[in-house]
Amino acid sequence: MKKLLKAPSQIVTVDTKGKNLKRGIDLTSIDPLYDHSIIVENGIIKDIVPDYSVANNSFDQVIDVKDCTILPGLVECHTHTAFAGSRSNEFLMRLRGATYEEIAASGGGIISTVKAVRQSTFEELVEIIKPRIGLFISQGITTLEIKSGYGLSYYDEIKLLQVINYFKNSLPIEIIPTFLGAHTYPPEYKNDHDKYLKIISEELLPFIIKNNLAGHVDAFCEKGAFSSEEVDRIFSKAKKLGYKLRLHTEQFNNVGGLDVALRHKALSVDHLEVIKNEDIHKLNGSDTVAVLLPGVSFFLDYQYAPARELLKNNATVALSTDYNPGSSNIPDLHFIMSLAALKMKMTAEEIISGVTINAAKALDMNRITGSIEIGKQADFAVFKAREYQDIIYNIGQNLNSMTIKKGEIIYKSKTEK
Ligand code: NIG
Ligand code: FE
Repeated sequence: MKKLLKAPSQIVTVDTKGKNLKRGIDLTSIDPLYDHSIIVENGIIKDIVPDYSVANNSFDQVIDVKDCTILPGLVECHTHTAFAGSRSNEFLMRLRGATYEEIAASGGGIISTVKAVRQSTFEELVEIIKPRIGLFISQGITTLEIKSGYGLSYYDEIKLLQVINYFKNSLPIEIIPTFLGAHTYPPEYKNDHDKYLKIISEELLPFIIKNNLAGHVDAFCEKGAFSSEEVDRIFSKAKKLGYKLRLHTEQFNNVGGLDVALRHKALSVDHLEVIKNEDIHKLNGSDTVAVLLPGVSFFLDYQYAPARELLKNNATVALSTDYNPGSSNIPDLHFIMSLAALKMKMTAEEIISGVTINAAKALDMNRITGSIEIGKQADFAVFKAREYQDIIYNIGQNLNSMTIKKGEIIYKSKTEK
């Protein structure tokens, strides 16, 4: 099957010259191409050629992308999409002055979502979560990470991962499930950390990888959640079993998470709102991606991660929504792109690198997707925009008109025939 994406206004290749990531200054080069078309064969990018050189009749399908800007399919690398219930009551509490940490310490926060998830069946969860994934697809996202972390028992963590895998196997988008059993301690083990750590390390980790339910492990290293020693224990076991690692760290306090993650060569360190100045250099030249989540700072009215300093220090910076009901009820990656510009002073080019190739790197998917390079998967977001900066400038408008995964159109906006 040979297809042509014919004569777009702009192709933002995010070319990495085969490196499959962008560090520091490299994030600023996204290599837009003009007067070119993309040839796709069997779901793979076969060639990118000047418009004048292509004849329509040698293709099985010609996709009209006139006046559009084509980006690599967006990669959403950090979400907690698999949740039930609402935390609007906590939202109101915060408006009256309570902090996220205070609400969590008083038994709300993650635990209130855990209660809602435990009360929901597999089928109910499927119904609740499905439209959320549809929303991401409509934004041009072709690769989506979803964490567990709201079950926090053997039965409920597996139930959540089975729901995520149900979507992985039935939807056209690529879904990367991540096991986040170490999100916080469930009430029944609040005073017996050892018992819960054993459930994670001896029961859940072996079962999940054996049954192919997740290949990535994440944890929340924070006061009131998991200490760096506890994360170290989980990571050591997970690594032995063959998992790739991620870590929520330096969100509210510095409790040693960054060093543990770097020592274990984690794929990413996520949050970093309070990363110490003197620690930033540790990400210089590191393969561990700094995943920044400005939606959390916006939603919690809290400080933003030091994106400029990280970039100056040659970090591999990515961006994500962190979509979840407590700290970022924002399932909108385009809005996050605008926040990154306005609040973290990232340039349009850095932002695009952050939601494509570097987000793919945080998922270890960067050799397959995240840039428009010959031989990669034909994953594209087609925007009704003449230039890429329009996506960031037009806040609150979904300019994505077509989402293409492995060469197949999996979403078309209503205005698109
Ligand atoms: O990434 N920080 C920990 N986990 C989530 C929030 C989860 C929740 O509040 O439900 C985060 O911000
Ligand atoms: Fe998160």
